[in-house]
Amino acid sequence: MLLDSYAEKVREGELRGDDAQAIVVAQLGRLAQALDARERRGAIGKLLGKNGTPKGIYIYGDVGRGKTMLMDLFFAELLVQAKQRIHFHAFMQDIHKRRQALKDGDVMAQIAKDLSKQAQVLCLDEMQISDIADAMIVRRLFQALMANGVVILTTSNLPPDQLYRDGLNRSLFFPAIKMLETRFDVVALASPTDYRLGRVKAWESFVTPLGPQADAHVQKVWERLTDVPKGEPVEIPVLGRSLRVPESAHGCARFTFAELCGAPLGPPDYLALASHFQTIFVEDIPAFKTSQRNEAKRFVLLIDTLYDTKRHLVASSAQPPERIYPQGDHRFESARTISRLQEMQSAAWWGQKIVET
Ligand SMILES: Nc1ncnc2c1ncn2[C@@H]1O[C@H](COP(=O)(O)OP(=O)(O)OP(=O)(O)O)[C@@H](O)[C@H]1O
Ligand SMILES: [Mg+2]
Repeated sequence: MLLDSYAEKVREGELRGDDAQAIVVAQLGRLAQALDARERRGAIGKLLGKNGTPKGIYIYGDVGRGKTMLMDLFFAELLVQAKQRIHFHAFMQDIHKRRQALKDGDVMAQIAKDLSKQAQVLCLDEMQISDIADAMIVRRLFQALMANGVVILTTSNLPPDQLYRDGLNRSLFFPAIKMLETRFDVVALASPTDYRLGRVKAWESFVTPLGPQADAHVQKVWERLTDVPKGEPVEIPVLGRSLRVPESAHGCARFTFAELCGAPLGPPDYLALASHFQTIFVEDIPAFKTSQRNEAKRFVLLIDTLYDTKRHLVASSAQPPERIYPQGDHRFESARTISRLQEMQSAAWWGQKIVET
């Protein structure tokens, strides 16, 4: 039983007791019971009608709150045999492939029918709508799946009405939001604790000097925070333009110093970055030469922005903060930047309550 196994993990110290998680566990527990009961009723239940299909659950919350952990626990404890747990992106890729293979007829109905034979319970981790193609099919796809008795459990960093929020032709997505809000139990996982941060606090977040060791360290921190070796490129809107983020995952964005401060970026870019991401990785910060006035200025701007918005910084640098700036130039500004960089490495900075990303 889900409730028991969660309680046991807390008792054994594998998990820390968390009231916000307990609420979600209770809800997931009810769904698991309903699903297992449906399984026991089997074919007869199905013949008796569709009222045996419970509502799916949409869990949302900030990064590191335990959404994936709870989904995995739910999945592992579920007695239902025909179940599938898959990352949302991988799932959508599979759907697009199937669409291309089918081409004509009611493609979505056919896909849903095929999928429902493999899985009556579908766990989709990290639902995120970043392109119009996905935005356009989610509603019909989910509806077709539910019509085939498939129960969907999904996690996301955002509530349904925030999905695809800066997307092209967003109004076309409104019916999908309505579908999610009415046909799912939408549950917030509102824990104050980012458990992933706890894992990184003891780590150095500003590593020197540059070299393979620093690279390996930054990579390790990246994997700890994001659970993936490499992020996805994304573009974020900035005043009618867009800013390219070479790698992103789980509220983290990763750049080299050259990409972030060597290019002609300004305050709106850094602000957009801070509003989209909780943690910014900046690799290969050089010791500035006097000729690198523009880079140095942009670095001050970047750090000011991340500091003001209480963001986290993970960096590799040729020098520690106090030796990045050449003596003489930008004296006044660099003193503030140095002190901020030092504070941003402190456990307190990393441990404080995470602000909404
Ligand atoms: N109550 C808890 N006690 C201890 N560790 C926990 C607890 N809840 C979650 N964790 C751990 O914290 C880490 C982050 O949890 P998880 O990956 O489930 O977060 P998430 O909500 O899915 O985050 P994201 O939105 O970034 O995907 C995992 O290693 C998980 O095992
Ligand atoms: Mg997750």
